[in-house]
Amino acid sequence: MSDTRANKRFRSQEWFDNPNNPGMTALYLERYQNQSFTQGELQAEKPIIGIANTGSDLAPCNKIHVFLMDRIKAGIRDGGGIPMEFPVHPIQETGKRPTAALDRNLAYLSLVEVLHGYPIDGVVLTTGCDKTTPAQLMGAATVDIPAIALNGGPMLDGWYKGKRAGSGTVIWEGRRLMARGEIGYAEFMELACASSPSLGHCNTMGTASTMNAMAEALGMSLPGNAAIPAPFRERMAMAYETGKRCVQMVLDDLKPSDILTREAFENAIVVNSAIGGSTNAPPHLQAIARHAGVELDVTDWEKIGFDVPLMVNMQPAGEFLGESFFRAGGVPAVMGELLKARKLHEGVMTASGQTLGDVLASWESLDRFVITTHDEPLREKAGFKVLSGNLFDSALMKTSVISPDFRARFLSTPGAEGVFEARAIVFEGPEDYHDRINDPELGIDEGCMLFIRNVGCVGYPGSAEVVNMQPPDALVKAGINHLPTVGDGRQSGTSESPSILNASPEAVVGGGLAYLRTGDRVRLDLNASTLNALVEEAEWEARKAAWEPPEIVNQTPWQEMYRQHVGQLADGGCLELATAYRRIAKDLPRDNH
Ligand code: FES
Ligand code: MG
Repeated sequence: MSDTRANKRFRSQEWFDNPNNPGMTALYLERYQNQSFTQGELQAEKPIIGIANTGSDLAPCNKIHVFLMDRIKAGIRDGGGIPMEFPVHPIQETGKRPTAALDRNLAYLSLVEVLHGYPIDGVVLTTGCDKTTPAQLMGAATVDIPAIALNGGPMLDGWYKGKRAGSGTVIWEGRRLMARGEIGYAEFMELACASSPSLGHCNTMGTASTMNAMAEALGMSLPGNAAIPAPFRERMAMAYETGKRCVQMVLDDLKPSDILTREAFENAIVVNSAIGGSTNAPPHLQAIARHAGVELDVTDWEKIGFDVPLMVNMQPAGEFLGESFFRAGGVPAVMGELLKARKLHEGVMTASGQTLGDVLASWESLDRFVITTHDEPLREKAGFKVLSGNLFDSALMKTSVISPDFRARFLSTPGAEGVFEARAIVFEGPEDYHDRINDPELGIDEGCMLFIRNVGCVGYPGSAEVVNMQPPDALVKAGINHLPTVGDGRQSGTSESPSILNASPEAVVGGGLAYLRTGDRVRLDLNASTLNALVEEAEWEARKAAWEPPEIVNQTPWQEMYRQHVGQLADGGCLELATAYRRIAKDLPRDNH
């Protein structure tokens, strides 16, 4: 595309160069030039490129961006733009209580306000830790100014005693080792810290790597952006190229609405299955789609994604970690293989300015042990099942993490493969689970299914990653690492548990899970994609009629506002009122004095 600078008036010039309102222009100009800018450059008909910095001491997963800033700014300068860095509300997955998920929509809201209300013509979104990526893509979609995602990259691979130690997955493994008495507290801490050897986000295919793969699959970053480990020189180069590219996107007026089409979301769903992506991807992609005004339904994940095979051998579904994935070619290699198998829409536009087909033309797997071809995958049909029944309208199950052992134990009754009838054990939240899971009175055995409720968007608040409940210690000692688990919350993308989660509507708003009782029979049928409580209709209705919602306690003003406006996970867990605001950059805000 050509440089259209000569005949372009930028949005930021309404602030810095508006002869129709000299008083206001003076006010804007004097305060911005007093930091490091001159009047000349602010009025130089160069676009101002915001850099949304998500890195800080409170956000270690994204801290690398603090050190990438110089390279991003150099790229913006060399591209002919003016960089202006600003902070984003921190969303640290492993730091924020009660859950970082509560803050995704807060960071989104704040970013929308910044992008709309300041002299910004385009923006580099610095992504990384789980919710930082969707929060910013949601914001960019709402405002609709040229935007490009720059991942900070995963950490280096973790190692412990000669074995790969992957983010999150070692925590779940450590819990089991402790339950079996094989390690103590001190060794558990050592193991956990070994998984985290450098700056960067989780090195597994958890939610962070997944969401950055989604940003790339959607076309919102430069090719190769997702997988480069944080400390690698290629990451510095990507920062420079991304900054430079953002300027050209402004000159070409290439906006999120040109990229985030229905076809782009379908591509992302296909890629998510192929990489063994996180169960957090559906709510985040639903949210981005809704803010972009694209129709996407939770059932699309099974319709479009279920038949796609697992092609990436990376924990938790596989064996390797981020460094191997990068060396095997990362997301463009996976997409190149999918393109060869005609599984992607190749005509969609990407942030690079090229169509996806052109971007991927020369890409294929560089290591078939880590990234397979489409026709010789690690596992067939590796996408999500979207279940329904009398307990919820929809819930997800990630089939790529169903182990042969789990399948043999729970889903292989002769004549009824894929069906499991069980006794329900119901917990009211994670505290109740921890208090009672080892209680012998519950008599939990291999014929049980564990349920957890009141942990969704409204219930928790924010929807907690607690559905991957570990069986009682006695069962773990006997070698049973997983029971089927179900809940209206989420689970970590690093978990290898084939839980049934994101149940919507959640229990506290009257979803079916609210009426289940410990001891009820339940029936999971993966062939029919159903999960039902086997309770007589009259009894079920009587429980519904007698139901009282649990007491909701807000600890902060934001918790109260969030609970008033948030929707369900199946619909992206968005602030419902915010989804009505679309492409708002075209409506300039009024002057401030
Ligand atoms: Fe931040 Fe995993 S906890 S990326
Ligand atoms: Mg998590």
